[in-house]
Amino acid sequence: MSLALDFTNMMAGALPGGAGITPAQWEAAAPRFAAAHAAVHARTATLGFLSLPHDRAMRAQVEAVAADARDRVDDVLLLGIGGSALGPIAVRTALCPPGWNALDATARGGRPRLHVLDNVDPVTIAATLARLDLQRTLVLVVSKSGGTVETMAQYLIVREAMARRLGEGGARRQLVFLTDPVVGALRRIAREEGIRTLDIPANVGGRFSVLSPVGLLPAALLGVDVAALQAGAADVMARAEQPLLAANLPGAFATLQWLADTAHGRPIQVLMPYADPLRDLALWFVQLWAESLGKRHPAGGHVGPTPVPAVGATDQHAQVQLFMEGPLDKTVTFVAVRGREGDGSIPARHADIPELGYLGGHTLGELIAIEQRATAGALAARGRFNATLAIDAVDAWHLGALFQTFALATAYAGALYGVDAFDQPGVELGKQFAYALLGRPGSEGARAEWDALPSPDPRWQL
Ligand code: PA5
Repeated sequence: MSLALDFTNMMAGALPGGAGITPAQWEAAAPRFAAAHAAVHARTATLGFLSLPHDRAMRAQVEAVAADARDRVDDVLLLGIGGSALGPIAVRTALCPPGWNALDATARGGRPRLHVLDNVDPVTIAATLARLDLQRTLVLVVSKSGGTVETMAQYLIVREAMARRLGEGGARRQLVFLTDPVVGALRRIAREEGIRTLDIPANVGGRFSVLSPVGLLPAALLGVDVAALQAGAADVMARAEQPLLAANLPGAFATLQWLADTAHGRPIQVLMPYADPLRDLALWFVQLWAESLGKRHPAGGHVGPTPVPAVGATDQHAQVQLFMEGPLDKTVTFVAVRGREGDGSIPARHADIPELGYLGGHTLGELIAIEQRATAGALAARGRFNATLAIDAVDAWHLGALFQTFALATAYAGALYGVDAFDQPGVELGKQFAYALLGRPGSEGARAEWDALPSPDPRWQL
């Protein structure tokens, strides 16, 4: 069980034309990383995600709720958005067999389907509700703040449908809230109505919450080994104790991306797993990296890399042309799964047709691994920064390790950029305008600002 980062193709020497991070830049970044490391690890009390891998009490609570649900639910419906939804989706995609929700109960080993409503599109919500037997559905309402507009709208609709079908008492029995221990509307409703609740620790923010009950409860319900998820993450924490770039994998990842952006003009940062089960990990990473690092800098100006999700080999036929020949403004980090060379043998057929004949006797595992190496080499040959994060398997241990690697890297990157990685003031104005347009009390100021905006100009409308 291991995670290894090869960043040769980010460095001068491997890339043509003098491109790449020089050893001198790397060495000069070491004290800056050490300071970032100190800043992050000094905040263990306030950065709750650092302690989640070791929280056994939380794991026991999650497992108890999952055990109670076993045999009485066929479906889990998760209501949430942003950090409250992307982690559970990534867990399901990575650790359940493909097409999980389409499998029958026997193929699922009696585990429930998991549906995540991470939007307020009326078509999706109506279609999801129409196919659920609410009697046998556990509804998880996930919101750290306990008041996010999209999640509250989802909740009102689903709660109404549950009450109609199950009665108020029945609806309450099928609900679990995951929210802040003290504040917020969900907490208030839970208190008033006695609804089962799991705490999202007060010091754990949405996008850093995947290893809190937010990700662990859906995982436990799906039959995932939650202890292994935590163990993988704990291993990353143990290996990140050192403030040394050469010994700290999340630190090296953060520092490489920061140097690529700030010293080499490469602010677009692609995460490209060569494994379908990790597609949604890339989307989870995008939210984490974007919302944490895209910030107004306290000293003035604006900073932040732009993360891009991709999947190999699929995106070799979509985005790789841009990565190879577009502007020299990107890094690509591959996630490669080792040891799959024996998987999926390709039959030897049409041996006389050159386009097919050479494939016979190889395997799909070999093909996907070779394609990843070939793409990395091709990018390097054209001066394109890339690195490869290799894991031994897509399993709970490695997924936990990947989650914690990227969470920790994000915290370090925030310190390297000199911004607060744990707030998101930039999403506030849009929220306030939406509240104002919906008539939420207290949004009169936003309404006035909205009304003062220029109206659509007929000259610029078609
Ligand atoms: O990362 C974040 O903090 C956000 O993306 C939140 O997860 C998102 O806004 C949902 O917030 P909440 O969990 O409070 O409903």
